[in-house]
Amino acid sequence: MGTQEEPKIVGKEEEEEEEEEQVVNPWEVSAKDGGKIDYDKLIEKFGCGRLDRSHIERVERLTSRPAHVFLRRGIFFSHRDFNEILDAYERGDKYYLYTGRGPSSEALHLGHLIPFVFNKYLQDAFKVPIVIQLTDDEKFLWKNLTIEESRRLARENAKDIIACGFDISKTFIFADFDYVGGAFYKNMVEVAKRVTYNQAVGIFGFTGEDHIGKVSFPPVQAVPSFPSSFPHLFSGKENLRCLIPCAIDQDPYFRMTRDVAPRIGCHKPCMIYSSFFPALQGESGKMSASDPNSAIYVTDSAKDIKTKINKYAFSGGQDSIEKHRKLGANLEVDIPFKYLSFFLEDDAELEHIRKEYGAGRMLTGEVKQRLIEVLTELVERHRAARAAVTDEMVDAFMAVRPLPHMFD
Ligand code: TRP
Repeated sequence: MGTQEEPKIVGKEEEEEEEEEQVVNPWEVSAKDGGKIDYDKLIEKFGCGRLDRSHIERVERLTSRPAHVFLRRGIFFSHRDFNEILDAYERGDKYYLYTGRGPSSEALHLGHLIPFVFNKYLQDAFKVPIVIQLTDDEKFLWKNLTIEESRRLARENAKDIIACGFDISKTFIFADFDYVGGAFYKNMVEVAKRVTYNQAVGIFGFTGEDHIGKVSFPPVQAVPSFPSSFPHLFSGKENLRCLIPCAIDQDPYFRMTRDVAPRIGCHKPCMIYSSFFPALQGESGKMSASDPNSAIYVTDSAKDIKTKINKYAFSGGQDSIEKHRKLGANLEVDIPFKYLSFFLEDDAELEHIRKEYGAGRMLTGEVKQRLIEVLTELVERHRAARAAVTDEMVDAFMAVRPLPHMFD
């Protein structure tokens, strides 16, 4: 241990004066003057790597199955040390997945589902266990919620997460108010002791007006990256590596975690990051839970979906048919096409739409119609899966128990 030096773990962005720049952190995602998020710039600022063809091919080779749509289409686009996970796996070493959700609302929107859908794919493809953290404490600290209300939301959200199809023999879901303690808490204080207040300010932007609950939270999100935080799962496997698939706005937490990890004798967690699922109104940030018309919720009816898409989905089509036939749609800003690129699985059909719509032979109405079909089907499937999740199942996923078949 010894003296605390203060290594720089802030990204470049925090060192520079923030003018009217894009802001991406766990609490705010907004593009520069209403434009698009510049992901290249973000990668450079944060110092993450870009996922490329070679990573995707390796994943396909190691799992003997086609890469998930979210990988093929660059929705998961960035990483930290993903090669280390793949190298280790190639040598026959397994790893575990870690992701989480802050339960701030009852209903999840499509953007919330993305990391879970992707984690479920990785669990199946690599045959690895996953720990899923529900940060009911975080939402109590940041939002105007009582402890009991955030705990209730955590359980409700757990149902949506389970509905994504996780394998109970390989999945541990935990809520912080229930699970924090013991080995997990020991790791939290090991981390807390190694991050100075100045570093926390640099990474997270805390100010003197923020209550100390916020300052104390980051270690809670950090330590599920360490197998020793889960003795019932990983006792004797403290050397296991951890891969965290999530949206890139969570990077500040894991920059901090990766900085501390080697100093407490742990592997740095490896990261694989997605871009944000854009709001219906356009691609300047992520969907907002506070504006119901900016997002499609997993609880929306077929009629809601149809109305929202027809009324609010920002179109890159031209304003007259003649002009559209001549110029084609601007696919760069077109939300129906963008949404299809997340959720229409058929590559050939997507390519067809790209060509036809981009050349003006297909109209916005037709593309919206196809999107309505795709999303209605997806939401319907999710609704049915969620309805089948009982309270007993939630208890079973959240029980502190060994998972003897987690690598089968
Ligand atoms: N802070 C995240 C949120 O508000 C929740 C979370 C906890 C998380 N642990 C995580 C997200 C790990 C991604 C990966 O949603």
